[in-house]
Amino acid sequence: MPSRYACFIANFIVSIIIEIGLPRITYYFLISSPFRSLVEDYPRYLKSFELFLERSSEHQCMQDFIHNTLPDILASIGGGRSVFNVMGVGSGAGEIDLEMLAQLHLKHPHVKVDNEVVEPSNDMLHKYKVRVSTTPDLDHINFEWNKMTASEFEKHWQQKNPGEKMDFIHMIQMLYYVTDPEATVSFFRSLLHKDGKLLIILVSGESGWGKLWTTFKKQLCNTEISQCVTTGDIKTFLDTEGIPYRNYELLSQMDITECFTEGDQVGELLLDFLTEVIKFSKNAPEDLKKGVLDLLRHPDCSKEVNGRIIFNNNLGVLVVEP
Ligand SMILES: C[S@@+](CC[C@H](N)C(=O)[O-])C[C@H]1O[C@@H](n2cnc3c(N)ncnc32)[C@H](O)[C@@H]1O
Repeated sequence: MPSRYACFIANFIVSIIIEIGLPRITYYFLISSPFRSLVEDYPRYLKSFELFLERSSEHQCMQDFIHNTLPDILASIGGGRSVFNVMGVGSGAGEIDLEMLAQLHLKHPHVKVDNEVVEPSNDMLHKYKVRVSTTPDLDHINFEWNKMTASEFEKHWQQKNPGEKMDFIHMIQMLYYVTDPEATVSFFRSLLHKDGKLLIILVSGESGWGKLWTTFKKQLCNTEISQCVTTGDIKTFLDTEGIPYRNYELLSQMDITECFTEGDQVGELLLDFLTEVIKFSKNAPEDLKKGVLDLLRHPDCSKEVNGRIIFNNNLGVLVVEP
């Protein structure tokens, strides 16, 4: 399993620690949650995240979507213009961005691209720039680097380019980190050309994550750094506002069998990753621990296959219309 996701999460956390300082993170969690968040113990976070990647098909399902479904979506954008405006919000180290840009080039080989990158982490931006410098055939793309959060970018954009419109905007596994996901979607959607598209990927509301977060929202979703938002939440918002979109479910799974063996080190790391709590099985009150373990094993979250417990790690993709 490639380590793209591990790298950017790891680097994102390091960036936060560098940019805002560990004491502030600790403060956030002390005031907002009875547990210590896993991000406070970076080596443990990284270990559990790597394990998650080994045990899940997270990467594979995104790659499949980009290669099999995205090309048809990209075919419909651009209105025959010779230069497309593309924007990645929360682009990380750019690996997925470049894959999507490659698909765009295949569909529109004669088009030039102005690509705005919105990414608050210095480290991620650096990695993205290195990737660009070592990737062939990107001459048709002009990269604009914006080291800022989505909300900082919104202010910046309104001052700098109020009338400019975009052909394709994407925010992949990023809306967890903004304080108001719906307002963020509304703003970026307002930048689209009439045939533009906004692509959002998050965990699916129908996934085991969705069930876990709905059931234990009060106990597990109480942090300032990341929110338990799913595509289900964004769909509710879009439906309420009457905003048209297409929805795709990306099937993904994760083997969590060891979580149910008391004292198993792999199981404990996976449980920490699922709950985002350091040493959850040691630190959680017995009733919460039992509740979480029962739910993880319940058919709402998992199925049993050849004696293994397979967690539903499905992702949701929303393609939002202007
Ligand atoms: C889980 S990573 C996803 C990276 C990339 N989209 C991908 O799929 O490979 C989330 C990214 O969002 C960025 N991020 C965090 N808070 C953000 C914010 N408020 N606005 C924009 N990006 C943010 C992080 O620095 C990180 O690179």
